[in-house]
Amino acid sequence: MTNHLRSAVEAAVWAPSLHNSQPWSFVIEGDEIRVRADPERWSRAGDPEGREQLISCGAALFTIRTALRAAGLRPVVTVLPDPDRPAVLASVRADGPMDADEQVKLMNEQIPARRTHRAGFADEPVPQDLVTALVKQAEAEGAHLLLVEQDAAVRALAAITAAAQEIQAGDRAFTLESVKWGRPPGSRHGDGVPAAAYPRDPRRTSPHFAQRDYAHGNAWGTGEDRGDETATGLVAMITTRADDRRDWIAAGQALQRVLLHAAANGVRAAFHTQALERPLLRAFIREELCAGEHPQMILRLGHTGTETHGVRRPVHEVLDEK
Ligand SMILES: Cc1cc2nc3c(=O)[nH]c(=O)nc-3n(C[C@H](O)[C@H](O)[C@H](O)COP(=O)(O)O)c2cc1C
Repeated sequence: MTNHLRSAVEAAVWAPSLHNSQPWSFVIEGDEIRVRADPERWSRAGDPEGREQLISCGAALFTIRTALRAAGLRPVVTVLPDPDRPAVLASVRADGPMDADEQVKLMNEQIPARRTHRAGFADEPVPQDLVTALVKQAEAEGAHLLLVEQDAAVRALAAITAAAQEIQAGDRAFTLESVKWGRPPGSRHGDGVPAAAYPRDPRRTSPHFAQRDYAHGNAWGTGEDRGDETATGLVAMITTRADDRRDWIAAGQALQRVLLHAAANGVRAAFHTQALERPLLRAFIREELCAGEHPQMILRLGHTGTETHGVRRPVHEVLDEK
């Protein structure tokens, strides 16, 4: 049993997180894994409420569930189990046995392989039946995958993203935080965004979604940008009806469920969450583009042939086995 729990934590560290900050820690005790938010890894400037930290930890929680299910165990999850310990975001008890279906196995295989994309996509639409399935995946976690389909709405979201990126570039506290997580070529850090995780000179898509600037004016990044990948892809948002800590964890679980399902079908995601870190822009997006639902993530989905590199901290740095 302990081996299965440990393997599930080894899988969880491959969840996506804001700036690859990996803002979590895990405790294994008996037949239970506890997922905790690590206060040392909270990005105060960009994420003052801790919303993106809880989305990241929610993604790790869904990863644990998937890994346990793939190992033939039934995960029994309690979200925010103890009001006196708010840093404990979830406990997962491994009950068993439970047969893993084919889809769980395919999603499980994608856990370490899935990567964030930071450029344009190939000019090949995401198949409609996959889009329908992704919407259902998010719904199953109590969130929505809202498709931004009208050209005018896509252009508006791209423009708001560009505005947020400009504002953040002029914000000293935010820039210091982003510099902290941008890693130079050859860095040995197991966290942050490595130079091998984005192209040096990505082609513009139309409309263009601004990328975060992890290179800070340096010629970092790979030379692998593919000239034929210039499509924006399918623009979508993860939204929730309410906006409390439980919703943020649900949004994170929905995010990872959508990403793994998409990856199992050859579709990758790019993220552009800058605008959601500016309260007025987030309120505007909520009002004008989300019919009053709370936007939690902004994504583009599509096909790409580029491979990017991922790094993580070793498991012993994040796991406490009692
Ligand atoms: C809440 C959240 C917000 C994110 N925002 C962005 C973003 O705005 N731009 C970006 O390029 N990646 C963003 N990411 C992706 C992370 O940078 C990425 O998951 C991390 O660097 C680990 O890399 P990997 O996903 O390739 O494993 C975000 C991820 C999360 C969970």
